[in-house]
Amino acid sequence: MNGADGGLALLQVLAENSFDSILITEASAEGKIIYANDAFEKLTGHEPSSVIGKTPRILQGPETDEKVITKLSDALKSGGKFEDKAINYKKDGTPFMMYWRVVPIEVAKKIVAWVAIQREVPVL
Ligand SMILES: Cc1cc2nc3c(=O)[nH]c(=O)nc-3n(C[C@H](O)[C@H](O)[C@H](O)COP(=O)(O)O)c2cc1C
Repeated sequence: MNGADGGLALLQVLAENSFDSILITEASAEGKIIYANDAFEKLTGHEPSSVIGKTPRILQGPETDEKVITKLSDALKSGGKFEDKAINYKKDGTPFMMYWRVVPIEVAKKIVAWVAIQREVPVL
């Protein structure tokens, strides 16, 4: 599958219709958001266009488990994958349990971006 056979259009339709929130950031240390789907807005209350150029740190707050964020930081530094949950905050300040996975997007063995798949799970 490649751009020429409609692969990109297919991926776009998948992302736009996913029930899970999808967030893509630049590969840089700053990790600016370059894409968010409609499910991200449904989950967090942030309009996709309003978060482009910001970092997903905007979802964090006082109750966010720092150990989980350190684990994610380590995964980003080593180019590995991450999967865990932590308290995040919606635009209106409501806390919720975010369960998310972050994976690198590699082109010619170089990480060009990171993609996160996110959903709300019950706080147990
Ligand atoms: C693609 C991607 C998605 C992310 N999504 C979230 C998220 O949903 N919630 C969250 O608390 N942090 C998320 N982060 C983590 C922060 O952006 C940041 O990488 C993390 O806080 C570690 O950096 P810091 O130690 O400078 O805060 C995400 C990171 C990436 C790369």
